[in-house]
Amino acid sequence: MNINEIANFKDGDQVKNLTGWVSSIRDHGGLTFVDLRDFSASIQLVFDKRGDVNTKLKNEYYIAIDGVFKKRDDELVNNKVFLGDSEIEVLQLDVINESKTLPFQIDDDLETDENIRLKYRYLDLRREPMKINIMTRSKTFKSIRTIMNELNINEIDTPTLIKSTPEGAKDFLVPSRKSPGNFYALPQSPQMYKQLFMMAGFPNYYQIAKCYRDEDSRKDRQPEFTQLDLEFSDSDPSLVKSNIEKIIKFVFSDAYDCKISTPFNSITYDEAINLYGTDKPDMRIKQTLRDISEVFRSTEVNFLKDILDNDGLVKALHTDEILSRKQIDTLDNEIKELGSNGLGWFKIEKNTLSGPLTKILNDEEAENILKFGTGTVLFQAGELNSIAKYLDHIRRSIFEPSSEAYSFVWIEDFPYFEQEDGNLQPSHHPFTSPKDDQIFKDDPINAKALHYDLVLNGVELGSGSQRINNPSMQKLVLEKWGLSDIEIESRFGWFIEALSYGTPVHAGFAVGIDRLVAEVLNQPSIRDVIPFPKTQSGLDPLTNAPASIEQQLLEEYNLKYINKDE
Ligand code: AMO
Repeated sequence: MNINEIANFKDGDQVKNLTGWVSSIRDHGGLTFVDLRDFSASIQLVFDKRGDVNTKLKNEYYIAIDGVFKKRDDELVNNKVFLGDSEIEVLQLDVINESKTLPFQIDDDLETDENIRLKYRYLDLRREPMKINIMTRSKTFKSIRTIMNELNINEIDTPTLIKSTPEGAKDFLVPSRKSPGNFYALPQSPQMYKQLFMMAGFPNYYQIAKCYRDEDSRKDRQPEFTQLDLEFSDSDPSLVKSNIEKIIKFVFSDAYDCKISTPFNSITYDEAINLYGTDKPDMRIKQTLRDISEVFRSTEVNFLKDILDNDGLVKALHTDEILSRKQIDTLDNEIKELGSNGLGWFKIEKNTLSGPLTKILNDEEAENILKFGTGTVLFQAGELNSIAKYLDHIRRSIFEPSSEAYSFVWIEDFPYFEQEDGNLQPSHHPFTSPKDDQIFKDDPINAKALHYDLVLNGVELGSGSQRINNPSMQKLVLEKWGLSDIEIESRFGWFIEALSYGTPVHAGFAVGIDRLVAEVLNQPSIRDVIPFPKTQSGLDPLTNAPASIEQQLLEEYNLKYINKDE
């Protein structure tokens, strides 16, 4: 029996073997009140003095009781809580298990160090907000499986001891005991296997897949996370996108009781960078970046002149609010930390300009800035790709999102490659089809990819692409990425071989489930919706993983530990 079932009881009904945790004890002279909590709800228990419950029970003892269900007298009803009009007079108490003194109270609004919460995660998960988070995650899985069955998409699993699937991060490696000196990699995603299903003749696939990426953790990144991973044969981006919209719409309605409208808007990568300064724009913020380069076309302000002469831009945001000096300095510091040279600004009050550059502006420039109207103009000058992230930060800092709960947008036409420390990296992964094969062959740096992202409230929720289904194109992409023939053969030879036996056209997508649930529940980090997450430094304070292993075990695995600091 659970507490929720008792809700339908009538005054005087017998309660038998009700179990749960003691969540508070209040001594009221002749009577002791104890709140009993189980997974489903809480209810007040009433003990008379005979059992000496005060001394016998402590918080988080696990108990079983028999008793009589009672409706409370009107003046004692607590309407704020479920079953606040009821209680159980206890006739029989069994302490099933005692509890040690708790490291923290099982309170809804617990404020304690996250490492302590993670060390005692099983206690943290007893708290109601965490229970809601984990159960929303569970409902998400359930809804996904329902809609996948409805759409007739096959759930098929893929191995997790594999060679390597590049998704831009480092692999977690597993040493092979039987094959000395060799390692498996844990999958960064099931990417290549899901493509193999298409080659093998399965028309579609989905999996709720664990993925592993050895990269720095952040609020929206974990070394181990969960994707809803999909692939469709004879497909293209528009078919994949419409399937994803159907799935998301269903999950929102079924799991979150929330209606969302589809299709979602689409914008190109270039539009996103131009208007929002990011490829993950929060579309609930309506204000966009404005190009004010023309205002300074014949300027005498030296640094602006230099930037504009070298094909740079001046991009601005205008807020109606007249920001204080403190607000401006804070923003200035924040973007400097991101790498900016500093924040440019003008204030417009009573049709008068102020700001560090005001004195050196010519009349025409001043007039054009005044046209923005009362408020503050904040700007950055430089090459768009370098200043975009500062502008994105400013936009998210000075404007409040509108009240709409969820704003989805598709971002398309990504550049095929992005430059990282002078090296080219595929902006998605190297199995993505170029948008135009010829442009890719002639000018890969400026080529676009058939890659599309889904962004929700400024968070990259998912990503997908049209795949290469032609072995020579696959080889060319790996070459343009910078891999030698030997590397291509050793890392991807088996995959290019597999593509060579009549591979259908195919496309797919993966949704980050942790990010989806965190966004729906408006949680600050995906750690809050993962039952047993790792800390920011990739540790598990509960089990103390990762841990060292004994010398003997190292030898069994043919491994030797080298301390680089010695
Ligand atoms: P991608 O690498 O963009 O694409 O991943 C898809 C989605 O997975 C989520 N995600 C993460 N969530 C938490 N922690 C992480 N470290 C992390 N990394 C990614 C994000 C992201 O949008 N194989 C391709 C998909 C495809 O092309 O079909 C892939 O994995 O929500």
